[in-house]
Order: sequence, then structure tokens, then C-alpha cells
Amino acid sequence: MDDFQYKNGQLHCEQVNLDELANRFGTPLYVYSRRTFEDHYDRIAQAFAALEPVICYSIKSCGNVHLCKLLAERGAGMDVVSGGELHRARLAKAEMGKVVYAGVGKTDAEIRQAIEAGIGYFNIESEAEFKNIASIAKAMNARARAALRVNPDVDPKTHVKTTTGKKETKFGVDIERARRFFETFGKDSNLELCAIHLHIGSPVLTVDPYVQAIEKALGLIKDLKQSGHAVSVLDIGGGFGANYQSDQSPVAADYAAKIVPLLLPFKQAGGQIILEPGRTIAANAGMLLTRVQYVKMGGSKKFIIVDTGMHHLIRPAMYDAFHFLWPTNVAPNHEPTQRKAEMDLPGLEKADVVGPICESSDYLAKDRMLPPMARGDLLAVYTAGAYGMVMASNYNAMPRPAEVLVSGAKATLIRRRETYDDLVGPELNVGA
Ligand code: LLP
Repeated sequence: MDDFQYKNGQLHCEQVNLDELANRFGTPLYVYSRRTFEDHYDRIAQAFAALEPVICYSIKSCGNVHLCKLLAERGAGMDVVSGGELHRARLAKAEMGKVVYAGVGKTDAEIRQAIEAGIGYFNIESEAEFKNIASIAKAMNARARAALRVNPDVDPKTHVKTTTGKKETKFGVDIERARRFFETFGKDSNLELCAIHLHIGSPVLTVDPYVQAIEKALGLIKDLKQSGHAVSVLDIGGGFGANYQSDQSPVAADYAAKIVPLLLPFKQAGGQIILEPGRTIAANAGMLLTRVQYVKMGGSKKFIIVDTGMHHLIRPAMYDAFHFLWPTNVAPNHEPTQRKAEMDLPGLEKADVVGPICESSDYLAKDRMLPPMARGDLLAVYTAGAYGMVMASNYNAMPRPAEVLVSGAKATLIRRRETYDDLVGPELNVGA
């Protein structure tokens, strides 16, 4: 599943002891396993190989340049949603023709940068946006390509805040409108409309919503062909799950088993498939390492107060997300045999794990059964590689954590810890 495993009661990332890592780099610390990260990418590439897809890693899930670079070197494209992410893709030396650019609010400046960079596709979210990109391309005397983001109106059965493929979301246009969209814009000479883009939600923990969405998209492509609009590219988006708890998500091969046969005829007729995975690659490849500051009681409730929280990992506060967490150093009978909310081990104690932020929503776990913990102990927050560091903030003027990449027995700092000067730098010497 991943390369975070206990050896004699001590948690390791690949061959590196996490306590040694915490002593060397300090806490809080995001730690990534290179082997897990690359392996997850390779599994997708292998599972979908029959489709020869372009796999555009979704930078928004975990955007450290050094990590993006590992995938670019394996031939991955990138899925970006801002000029900032495009900048990251460039620094990672991703092939620009394999970059897709989504997002409902692209600005003129961002659009120009993307056209200049020669990206593969703009994933278009509205009529107004199409017109704007087409007119910018015209003014630049350039040609760009577009995929229409179609909202297939399927229920991905995920958290309401990460559902995107239902009709009443701000993303994409519905299928009826898609037909009219092609009638209106299908022959634009500066912005070639030749692709369909889907993204139904995240995480999507069953394969059926993909099947439904892809069937609808293929039906649309067939209709469009009959009306003289050739669609040669289908981008099925991201959304594959991760294991926040043991075996929670289908593996790449399970998704592929149903999706590949569905798309093979399209591919065999000369079509190109694009995937935009993020979470399934990054989530289980990273964890957040934190040190216990204090243990206190509040009435009969026990609180373990750590040196990280919602400012560095907002998912529990924002989505009520479950993250397995466990001390890095435990007695042999406390090694977790699986990652679940309910752990069937002796001598556990119920506690909330909370951060230092002045908000009652600042927690990482509630009513969790854990081995007894004391000040100074280290705790690992699992499955934090995706939507962890990228969503971190400086709330309460807290510097963001450092990031370390482990490969075998080697640990490399890939983002230094922020300093107080980093926090106030943009406020100083601003002129008047
Ligand atoms: N493509 C598009 C158009 C997307 O909007 C997303 C994610 C992806 C690809 C990548 O999805 P993934 O493979 O990573 O599931 N912050 C939330 C997740 C938000 C997802 C946003 N869009 C969380 O922490 O669960």
C-alpha cells in the first residue's frame, strides 16, 4: 500500500527512522516517500496502458516542484488551475503540450501565459470563458486548443464540498448546453474546440460513477460527430481514491478494469484519452509528523495538543475528513496492524488530537483510541500527502512546515521551514 511501516515498534519511511527525521529537520514536518509516490503513478500508467493515455498529474493535490519533477521525468503531463501551478509545471520541466488548464475563473494574464507556454488544452468551463480565451488568442495571433468541461450530472457519492459532477455546481456545462456550445463555438479558428473534459468529484470510491459519466460523454461525442463536430480527445479528470483507512479505495487496476473496455473503441478509432489523477498518487505517499506539546483534561475528555493543526492540514476541519494517526514509537503490541478508527489493541485511551490554533474546529482527530501519549512524543498523521501542504496557511502567524523527500535510506529537504521573516516579508518595504 505504501512505504510507511513499523520496524520493532518504530515507524519508518522506506529505510528512514521517522524519529531521527524529526530530530534532524524539526516538526511539524511533511514527509514523502519517493517510492510510494512513483509507484502509485506507475500503477495508473500500467493499469491504463491499453489506452496509452496522457496522465496529467493534478498539481493542486501536492505541488512541490521536486515531486512534480519526479513525475514529469516519467513522462507525466500536468493538470493546472492557475498561473501559479503553470509556473510549477514549468519549473518541473513538464512537457507543455501535455499540460491541461482547468478552473472557472482564469484571468486574462493567466490565459496569455498559458497560450505563450503552448499548453495542450484549456478546459473550458463556460461560454463567456470560451469567448474570452478565443479573443485573447486572436489578439495574440495564436492558435490554442480547448476541451469543453461537461457536467454529466452523476452523483459521485462523495463529500458535498468535493462533488463537482452534479448539475447544480459551478463547474462545466450540462450535456444539453454542450451541444449548443459546439454549434456556437465549434468552428472557431483561434481556439479549436476538439475535446471533452469530465471531472465528477474527489474522492470517488466506487467505479460506477465513472462508468455512468463516460457513457454519457461517449454518447455526446457520437451526437456531436453526427452534427459535424469531431471530438478527438476525452479527458476523464481525476478523483480516484486513497486509503485514509485500510483498503478504503479501489486500486488503479480496479478502476481500469471497468474504464478501459469502455474507452478502448474510442482509442482504437484514433481518440486520445487524458487522466488527471492527484490524490491517488500523493495522498498515501505523504504524512505529517508532529510533536506532542501538552496533554490536558477538559472535564472527562483527554486532549493531546500537538504542534500542527488545521493551519497545516485543514481536511478534518473542512470536510470532517478522517486521517489515521498513531505514535511513531510504540510497544510491539501497539504496532497498528491496520489503519481504522476502531483499533482492536489493548491499553488504548480515548483522546481528541488538537492543534494550537485559536478555533474550536482546530482538530486532527476526535474521540480516537490511541496508545498513551506524553509531552515530546511524536505522532504521524497518515495519508496527508494530498491536499495537505497545498492547503496549508499561515493562520495565527504560524510558519508552514518543511517538506522532506525520502528515497531508500536518504532524506532530502525539498522545502525549507518558513521563518518569521517569510511571514512578514511581503508587508515590509512596500513603499508608501
Ligand atoms: N481534475 C480536476 C478538474 C479537479 O478539479 C481535481 C480536483 C482533480 C483533477 C484531481 O482530483 P484527485 O485525483 O486529486 O481526486 N481539497 C479536497 C479535494 C478537492 C479536489 C479538487 N479537484 C480534499 O482535500 O479532499
